[in-house]
Amino acid sequence: QVAEVSETDPLTLSAWILTQQHKSVGARGRLTVLLNAIGVGCKFVSSAVRRAGLAGMMGMAGSSNVQGEDQKKLDLVANEVFKNSLRRSGQCCILVTEEEDEPIFIEEPFRGDYAVVFDPLDGSSNIDCGVSVGTIFGIYKAKNPGSGKYTLEDVMRPGTEMVAAGYCMYGSMSYMMITTGKGVAGFTLDPTLGEFVITHPNVQVPTRGPIYSINEGNAINWDVATKRYVDECKAGTHNNGKPYSLRYVGSMVADVHRTLLYGGIFMYPADKKNTKGKLRVLYECFPMAMLVEQAGGKATTGTKRSLETMPDSIHDRAPIYLGSKEEVELIEQFKKEA
Ligand code: AHG
Ligand code: MN
Ligand code: MN
Ligand code: MN
Repeated sequence: QVAEVSETDPLTLSAWILTQQHKSVGARGRLTVLLNAIGVGCKFVSSAVRRAGLAGMMGMAGSSNVQGEDQKKLDLVANEVFKNSLRRSGQCCILVTEEEDEPIFIEEPFRGDYAVVFDPLDGSSNIDCGVSVGTIFGIYKAKNPGSGKYTLEDVMRPGTEMVAAGYCMYGSMSYMMITTGKGVAGFTLDPTLGEFVITHPNVQVPTRGPIYSINEGNAINWDVATKRYVDECKAGTHNNGKPYSLRYVGSMVADVHRTLLYGGIFMYPADKKNTKGKLRVLYECFPMAMLVEQAGGKATTGTKRSLETMPDSIHDRAPIYLGSKEEVELIEQFKKEA
């Protein structure tokens, strides 16, 4: 999956985005401007995350968000970075972020035709111990571009209507995975250049993989089908008797990044405690489901395709099982048989 980085053909994120623009007839480059603004935001947050331990930026902010979570200082820093970068791009009409109760409507002269939903810092419970975290984003084109009329209806939509999605993972290096609906490309931030350079030109999720990823601490609350699937992973029932490995980072971006590259399945089921699951539909489930599908994998709520969910609020939640096609189809079959 990893390509040799050319020494003479600087295929940076910006250059790649332009090639995607050339593929869409009649594009006027506005999505290009928007995606580049997101790339700049990711570079800023990458720098803040890497310096946090030295700049007194670890720890709690002393506030909480609509999710009922105590916000980390870096949750708020990342949130401000993306709000500013997206506003300045002049391409957005509405922003939905995990860290704000209500949607943000962008006023003239900065208003544009795209609605962006984002999780500014995903996995923030891991930030103080240096475990990988990330940013997740999804983009809708406004229903009435150029009309000057933008409403909640521009974001309360199924994920099938997203025009682009991606994430940046701040790990050993900063990796960006992005799709505009024509496959998934991966980039690595070269700190000497300050540029994301292409390293994974055409990401393909392996059709199966002996890795399952789930918070086993919730096992007592799982439904029958999830329990059966996990038991059979442990028994190696579908792997010639060889047990699967369990890998669970606790940052969705890190668990999904590994699943995209190595295969296997990532699961955050609904359970007796969280009857709709924990992960947020708009800015966690939809972008990750779009990426996984674009890379040849599958993403389901357990009973239906994740991207066909209709969110009932901007912070709505849903169960999610995503990754290798064969693994996801197995859990779907078990759900039907339950
Ligand atoms: P966030 O940090 O943006 O609030 O998201 C945390 C999410 C997600 O990153 C991860 O998959 C999940 O929480 C882990 O939840 P548990 O700690 O319950 O396993
Ligand atoms: Mn959070
Ligand atoms: Mn998150
Ligand atoms: Mn978050």
